[in-house]
Amino acid sequence: MALSAELHERRAAAVPRGVGHATAIYAKRAKNAEIWSEEGKRYIDFGAGIAVVNTGHQHPRIVAAVEEQMRAFAHVCFQVTPYETYVSLAERLNAIAPVAGPAKTMLVSTGAEAVENAVKVARAHTGRPGIVSFSGGFHGRTHMGMALTGKVVPYKKGFGPFPADIYNVAFPNTYHGVTSEQSLEAIKALFKYTADPSSIAAIIIEPVQGEGGFYIAPFDFLRALRTLCDEHGILLIVDEIQTGFARTGKMFGLEHSGVKADVVTMAKGLAGGFPLSAITGNADVMDASNPGGLGGTYAGSPVACAAAHAVLDIIEEERLCDRANAIGEIILDRCNQIRSRSNLNCISDVRGLGAMCAVELVKDVASGEPAPQLTQTLLKVANENGLIILPCGTYGNVIRFLVPLTASDDLVREGMDIFETSLSEAVTRVA
Ligand SMILES: Cc1ncc(COP(=O)(O)O)c(C=O)c1O
Repeated sequence: MALSAELHERRAAAVPRGVGHATAIYAKRAKNAEIWSEEGKRYIDFGAGIAVVNTGHQHPRIVAAVEEQMRAFAHVCFQVTPYETYVSLAERLNAIAPVAGPAKTMLVSTGAEAVENAVKVARAHTGRPGIVSFSGGFHGRTHMGMALTGKVVPYKKGFGPFPADIYNVAFPNTYHGVTSEQSLEAIKALFKYTADPSSIAAIIIEPVQGEGGFYIAPFDFLRALRTLCDEHGILLIVDEIQTGFARTGKMFGLEHSGVKADVVTMAKGLAGGFPLSAITGNADVMDASNPGGLGGTYAGSPVACAAAHAVLDIIEEERLCDRANAIGEIILDRCNQIRSRSNLNCISDVRGLGAMCAVELVKDVASGEPAPQLTQTLLKVANENGLIILPCGTYGNVIRFLVPLTASDDLVREGMDIFETSLSEAVTRVA
C-alpha cells in the first residue's frame, strides 16, 4: 500500500473525523509552490495551506529569520519578558493597515483568536453587546467565530448554543440574487425590527468572502457600510484573515474600496506558515480594555514575529502585490477560455480579485444548479494529476485558486493545464 494511503488509514483510526481533509496526500517536503508527498510524487500547490504561504514554502529569508530567532530564544511570553520584534511588528502593521486614525496592534496566534479579540475590544470600547455578520461569512471555529459564521454545515451544526447578540444578515452577492441595496435594507430592517442600532458594537465583514465562495464585497457596499456605521456609532471590523498580505493585489483587500476600518483582523499570510495573527485597530478602540484583559501565553510568538518581519520584507522587495495581479490575470484568462469550451458547460462564473480567484461549477450553465459532486470528483482527479486545489462555497461547488504569489508564470500555467485536463476528466467521470 502507498505510504499516503497507509497514513490515511492510520489517521482515520487516530484522528476524529470532524477534522476535515481536502486531500489524502501526506506531505514530506515543500518548496515555493510545489509539495512532494511521502511517496515522492510532486504536486503543484494551488492551496498555499489555505492562503497562508503567499510567500511560498520554505522561502530562504523566512527560514533564515526563524533559524536566527531559534538560536536566540523560542519563547519567553511577551507579557512576562517582552521583546523588540513584537513591538516593531506592531509598528509596521500600524503603518500599513487600512485603519482610521492612529493605530495600535496586538498579536495572538490564530485567525479565530484574532476575531475573538476584535469583538472583545469593540465591546469594551462601545459598551454595546451586538455584532452583525453576514451570510456565507466565515470567522473561525471558536464559539464567537462560529456564532459570526454564516454557514451551518459543517461549521455550526451540533456545536450550539452560541454567544448571544449576534445577528446575521444577507451578504451582497449578486450571483445569488442579493444586491448591495437589498443587503443594506436587511441591516436597516434588523435595526428596526430586532435590535436597536445603539446596542450594536460592530459590523464584521470579509472584503472577499473566503470559505463562503470567493464573493467580492462590492466596493460601493463597503463605503455604504462605513457611512451606516458612522451614523450609528458602530465600529467596522474588517476580517482580512484570508484576503490580507498581497493576496488580492493590494496589501489588504479593503484598500480596493478606499474605506478605512476601525479594526482589522489578520492571520494566515502574515507569518509565512507560523501561527500568528494580529488585530490592528484605532488606538482608542484598542486601548479600551483593562491591562491583562488581552494577550495569551503564546500570543505573538517570537519565532512567528521573526517570520512575519521577513514576510513583510519579501512582499515589498519581490513586489508581491504586482505578482498577485499578474498571476490572477493568467488564472482568470485561462478560466474564461475553459468556460467557453462548449463541451464542458459546467462553469457558470469566473471571478477574482488579484490572485484570489475562483470558478463556480454547475450541473449545466442553463440551470445554474450547483455541482458539488463534480467539484469533489475534480479535486480527486486534480490530485491524481499532480495538482492541489481547494473547494469552498455555501454549496460546496466553488474551486478556489490560492497559488503562492512567489510562483513563476510557467508554474501557474502548468497548474492551469492540469486543472483543465482534470476538469474534462471529472466531467466525463460524473456523466
Ligand atoms: C476570513 C477568515 N476569518 C477567520 C478564519 C479563521 O482562522 P483560523 O483557522 O486561523 O482560526 C479564517 C480561516 O479560514 C478565515 O478565512
